[in-house]
Amino acid sequence: MAEEIKKEPPANFKITIDNITIEVPPGTTILNAARMIGPEVAPPAMCYYSKLKDSGGKCRTCLVEVAAGSTADPRPMPKLVASCRTNVMDGMVVKNVTSEKTLDARKGVVEFLLINHPLDCPICDQAGECHLQDLSYEHGVVQTRYEFKRRAFVREDIGPYIQLHMTRCILCYRCVYVADQLTDNRVHGILDRGDHSDISTYISKAIENDFSGNMIDVCPVGALTDRTFRFKNRVWFLKPMDAHRDCDKCCGKVTLWNRGDEVYRVTTRKDQWGEVQNDENGKPMWICNNCRFDKKQTSDWVIEKPTSINRHSVISANHYQVKVMPHDPLDKLLNGRSPLLLMDIHEESKVNQQDVHLDELFGPATGKTFNGEPLATGHNVTDIKEGVGANTQGTDSTNPGTH
Ligand code: SF4
Ligand code: FES
Repeated sequence: MAEEIKKEPPANFKITIDNITIEVPPGTTILNAARMIGPEVAPPAMCYYSKLKDSGGKCRTCLVEVAAGSTADPRPMPKLVASCRTNVMDGMVVKNVTSEKTLDARKGVVEFLLINHPLDCPICDQAGECHLQDLSYEHGVVQTRYEFKRRAFVREDIGPYIQLHMTRCILCYRCVYVADQLTDNRVHGILDRGDHSDISTYISKAIENDFSGNMIDVCPVGALTDRTFRFKNRVWFLKPMDAHRDCDKCCGKVTLWNRGDEVYRVTTRKDQWGEVQNDENGKPMWICNNCRFDKKQTSDWVIEKPTSINRHSVISANHYQVKVMPHDPLDKLLNGRSPLLLMDIHEESKVNQQDVHLDELFGPATGKTFNGEPLATGHNVTDIKEGVGANTQGTDSTNPGTH
């Protein structure tokens, strides 16, 4: 009997995206393979969220062209595919930004998403960190062609911390997955079908679960906003900082959004895809409502460092970071001595005298100060207020009566 030849699947699949070839483990989606290459070729994703199981496949912003299905069957796929839901095959060739078809389709998807979405970026709390706003700048058209009545909903407070602005919702389901996968008791979901679809709390129950605040972070648009932050500030005026505290419910690792000493809001730490970061063990660092909504004092936190923000983001405007410190020749010059030693002016200077401490004088030093009267001071004309002291005419360098 002829021996059955079993072909082992290759350890890794080779995939080419926008002319860049990479090897990825079987089972990787095209979107994640593209993310491994980098943000230049990664398709946008409005509904996929790698930390939420089963997310993706709803918004169609991640469509790509598959120019060759695999080495075994190199025929192109007849339609564009959702890259967040399509696994790579060995030898697959994918076109994202190099495909006119893809860019054209993405333009259409953005136009669809904006049919009902209000153009209220100037007053929306999500402005500056809204994925739809970025997408419309990159792929949108200047004008709308839609002439029919748009969907509009009344704003609704769902729970003490979250406000739902359903008119802005793009029905990506991310918040539903957060409620399903992070909280014990999901009380909201998408009700009805098609144009009538609506995110709503079941029989008007409020979302009060300890981790419900994470829904705000995953919402790609301004549909779910933080009621403790709404209309308080624009994100690009705030300075984000990584901070942590000991928390018995969550990891306690957050981003604080400060203006001066005031903490305006607390969010999860985000990665370059706008998703919550993983910790060193690969676990997403979701945060609890206590850290997010109740710890709004800088003293509640241990500040680590300024959060690094993508330099293309409007939030990074006016943030400066020195990545590489310039070489400091002082150490070598001082032969290992601490530069602070130089600060002892009395020891180093021939002019300044040991017993004269200028920082302790209440006025300017005079000749007397250095000639035996170390506490003697003169007058500073600008310190004398009008009508005070010996000169009742006031102080003025042209006034001969000025001391
Ligand atoms: S509220 Fe936000 S997160 Fe929830 S479905 Fe709508 S757009 Fe997505
Ligand atoms: S990100 Fe793939 S369909 Fe939404």
